[in-house]
Parts: sequence; C-alpha cells; structure tokens
Amino acid sequence: MNILAFESSCDETAAAVVRDGRTVLADAIASQAEMHTIYGGVVPEIASRKHVEAIAGLTDQALAQAGLTKRDVDAVAVTYGPGLIGALLVGVNFAKALAYGLGVPLVPVHHVRGHIAANYITHLDLEPPFVCLCVSGGTTLIVDVRGYTEMEILGATRDDAAGECFDKVARVLGIGYPGGAPMDRLSQGGDDRRYAFPQVHVHDAPLDMSFSGLKTAVINLIHNAQQKGEKLDLPGLAASFSAAVSEMLVPRVMAAARSRDYGKVAVAGGVAANSRIRADLEAACARSGDRLYLPRLSLCGDNGAMIGCQGYYEYLAGRRAGMDLNAYANRDIQLG
Ligand code: KG4
Repeated sequence: MNILAFESSCDETAAAVVRDGRTVLADAIASQAEMHTIYGGVVPEIASRKHVEAIAGLTDQALAQAGLTKRDVDAVAVTYGPGLIGALLVGVNFAKALAYGLGVPLVPVHHVRGHIAANYITHLDLEPPFVCLCVSGGTTLIVDVRGYTEMEILGATRDDAAGECFDKVARVLGIGYPGGAPMDRLSQGGDDRRYAFPQVHVHDAPLDMSFSGLKTAVINLIHNAQQKGEKLDLPGLAASFSAAVSEMLVPRVMAAARSRDYGKVAVAGGVAANSRIRADLEAACARSGDRLYLPRLSLCGDNGAMIGCQGYYEYLAGRRAGMDLNAYANRDIQLG
C-alpha cells in the first residue's frame, strides 16, 4: 500500500511516499529554517506562505523519487496537529484536495505520533509496547506506547518544551535558529560542571518536567555577565545546560520504563538528535538492561516519512477523515 504523506506543522514542508508502513520510497523536505533565522524564531505567517509555495513541487518531487504517479497512491496522510495553525492548514487543505481528486482515503496523523513512528522506520523490528520520550521544539512528553494507535501520557512538561529551551538560550547567545544543533556543537569539549543550574521536581507528579526555570537561570547568567562585561566559558555553559536538560529528561523516562517493564525505551523528536541526551540514555539503558531505540539523525526533525509510517498504522486501525477535517494547534496524543 502506497501512502503519500504531508507534514507542514512548523517550518519544514515535507512530502513522502511510504510503502506498507516501513519502506520509505521518497522523502522530500524543504526547510525554511534559514529564512526564520534572521527573526530568531519561526514567524507563523511567513511559514504558512512558504508552505503554500513549496507543497505542490515537493509532491511532484516525492512521486518522481518513488518512481510512481498519482494513480499509484492508495491513501493520503497528513499532519493535522499540533502545530502552527496556518502552517497546518496548508498541508491539511492540500491533502484533502488530493485525496478527493484521487478518490482515495484521507488519514489524519498526530504530529508527535509521527515522531514516534520515525523509530519504526529506523528499527524495522520495533513494535509496541515501549516507553517513548518525545522531545521537540513544541512538545516534551513521556508516553506509554501500548499499541501503534494506543497511547498514554505518563509525564509532560508543565511549561516550556525542551527544544524551545535550547532555542531561546541559543537566541540570547546569538548562535542561530533553531538553536539545538549549534548548542550541541558548542557544548563539545565543554566542562558540564562549569555552571550549576536549578533542577525542578514537580510535587506529586514525579514524571512531570519543567524547563522555564532552567531557561530563565541560563538567560539571567548570560545577561548578568554581559552587564558586568565578564567573559563566559561558552562551551562550559552549553555543556552544563545540556547536562541539566538531560538530567530533567533521562531519570524520568527511565523511571517510566521501570513502571512499565517493557524492556524497550525509544526517543522521538528534534531534541532526540542531542548528543548528551543520546549518550546519557545509552548509559542509563546499559545499566537497566532496557533496549534503547533512537531514530536515525535524519529522521529526528520534522519529515514526511514519519507521517506516512504512522498514517499506515492509523489506516489499519480504521482512521479516516472527511472533507471537514480541521487543523488543531493543540491536540492530545492520546486522542490521536
Ligand atoms: O521535531 P522538530 O524538528 O520540530 C518540532 O516538531 O518541534 O524539533 C525541533 C527542535 C528545535 O527546538 C531544535 O532546536 C531541536 O529540535 N534540536 C536539538 C538538536 N537538534 C535539533 N536540540 C538539542 N540538540 C540537538 N542536537
């Protein structure tokens, strides 16, 4: 079964063709990140307009890459939330028109479920159940993936997402947008104990997380140093900050894994590319005996292949959308 899949929830427009869930025939992506860099973050209206410009060409590119024509498409899958509403609507409306025109089913896909599915493409043997840490620019969740379309949130951030925290600190340092990858590079070789940052524990919710206090502490440290004309140890700052983020995430996902005892831990989303978090998870899983599943680096960020993969499992579960499908800025992963 060939699924043509679309992703346009933030600043990447993507069209992919995925066969039978796990075989990626084509994955075409147009990133707008460079354009948003000058603003230090995504400008939603510009993002929507760029999606409109890119989506039809990417569709042709994906079909050509797959060696298929539109007539070979058996279903259309699309990210319908969560994300920037104007950006999502571009993908949703394009997918609707295509599904209607081709007379094939339209399958709505939750963006974060898509990120989780990036692991199925990377690890062909992976099947639920497993515990997954979902960390991206807009989401930080610990999810019990009981089945391909059956999920329970075990822990969530109470404020910012981990990726947002990386992006805001990087913006204050002036090292670019999105900030996660440059922060990661800056941290290489830095002393992770150079600066001490606060760790938050949410009372009565041990698996919940919080990043806003950490973000403020780092930004205050940078501003204070700037005001006093002091020079910061930037690799040490980036390494200490990355260690603090990892310290918030890794013990909690490992505690969640212990509570479920599936023996399998996965990670999903753009922040899954972070070298410190990956290394800490590898060490923690080596200690606990859990098998760790990390998505291929190229599949950590937003892409269409992950939507095509999850779209297949949603399709098998009977999920269909009509021409009244809407986009949602916020959408509970448990509802799909
Ligand atoms: O999954 P994604 O591409 O988009 C969303 O769905 O949000 O994630 C983007 C986020 C950004 O916040 C970016 O800074 C972060 O992932 N990111 C990283 C790294 N690479 C990307 N954060 C930390 N370390 C990285 N190496």
